[in-house]
Amino acid sequence: MLTKYNLKMPHEIFSGEDALENLKVILQKNGVKKVAVFTDKGIQSAGLLDYPMAKIQAAEVESVILNDLPPEPTYAQAQALVDAYKASGADFIVAVGGGSVMDTAKLSSILATEEYTIKDLLDDPSLGKKHVKTLMIPTTAGTGAEATPNAIVAVPEKELKVGIVNEEMIADYVILDAVMIKKLPRKIAAATGVDALCHAIECWTSNKANPFSDLFAMEALDLILNHIEPACDDPEAMDAKNKMQIASFLAGVAITASGTTAVHALSYPLGGKYHIAHGVSNAILLVPVMKFNEPVCREKFAQAYDRCVHGEHTCTTVNEKSAYMIGWMEKIVKHLDIPTSLKEFGVSGEDLEGLVAAGMEVTRLLVNNMREVTPEDARAIYQQIL
Ligand SMILES: NC(=O)c1ccc[n+]([C@@H]2O[C@H](COP(=O)([O-])OP(=O)(O)OC[C@H]3O[C@@H](n4cnc5c(N)ncnc54)[C@H](O)[C@@H]3O)[C@@H](O)[C@H]2O)c1
Ligand SMILES: [Zn+2]
Repeated sequence: MLTKYNLKMPHEIFSGEDALENLKVILQKNGVKKVAVFTDKGIQSAGLLDYPMAKIQAAEVESVILNDLPPEPTYAQAQALVDAYKASGADFIVAVGGGSVMDTAKLSSILATEEYTIKDLLDDPSLGKKHVKTLMIPTTAGTGAEATPNAIVAVPEKELKVGIVNEEMIADYVILDAVMIKKLPRKIAAATGVDALCHAIECWTSNKANPFSDLFAMEALDLILNHIEPACDDPEAMDAKNKMQIASFLAGVAITASGTTAVHALSYPLGGKYHIAHGVSNAILLVPVMKFNEPVCREKFAQAYDRCVHGEHTCTTVNEKSAYMIGWMEKIVKHLDIPTSLKEFGVSGEDLEGLVAAGMEVTRLLVNNMREVTPEDARAIYQQIL
């Protein structure tokens, strides 16, 4: 069956040892006069902003730091940074941070004029037009936001997180330097790493999967399954951290070419209403959704087994391989000490119907799930994690 698909990604991506060195050349090449550096206070207090700032100073470019951003911002909190950016007179954007920072920087890059706000983009994402080039330097591995045309904001009125998708938000440049995630606290490394794992496996099993997205999703899945544990456990495991950064970028490209599915769909209300971190809510849902999907995804899981298991292949049948893959993901979530239940976030049985209703609203992603998710199915999945 011939269907339509295409591939979009940032213009230039730098990775490997001392990748940050390229920052100076990028600024000079673009004749930048003043750079707006988007970040947050957590990154600043971890001393991480010092690395890129040293390169910006070496390029003799003026800069302004925009750091007043909480994790997983609401659209109004992100808008405050967009407004600060507009007033700054900067002609280039550098984002140094996780998905929250990168998404806000991306939104700023398409909201230069007074005409529209983020609230307008929630109704019609296509209103935004890129007016300034962007460079993404991720400090988590991660959301893949450095690769995608998506920006996700919380919408308190709807008690939901909403994804704004506009290809004008795809970054111009990306620098993946493992030094930026070297000291990432284990808890954040674990949650953001499992987010990338979800991106890879969801895109691989998505109704929108195609030869382009498969290439990126499968390589990402292989890298993540085999390197996430050392990357999170061992502060010195720079090779594993480098692989996780590359993998989360690749998984971001897979999102752009394909699309995530029911894990992300059912996760959005957990972030929007209960403020559970994106990676954590995905990690809680990953195994229950994969088990729900298994009847229609066995072949896909078995192909992933053939590609990602590098030692002796002990499984021979499709059923065995599929069960092994789900067990592997379950083992990773457990090893990384990520919560597997919503109880500790204060979610109770009384919240169930609200969750089902809000989750079912995320049709943009639910349509990608190979097994149809009915409200009864969503209820059964949420019930397992309460
Ligand atoms: N645009 C996309 O394609 C996409 C995809 C997935 C998720 N997201 C969104 O991204 C956001 C989550 O991003 P995230 O998971 O990267 O986390 P985050 O950006 O919200 O950061 C979480 C916390 O980690 C801290 N932090 C980040 N890097 C650090 C480091 N290296 N060392 C020490 N502390 C560090 C931050 O200061 C912050 O307090 C959510 O809003 C989510 O919905 C976007
Ligand atoms: Zn995600």
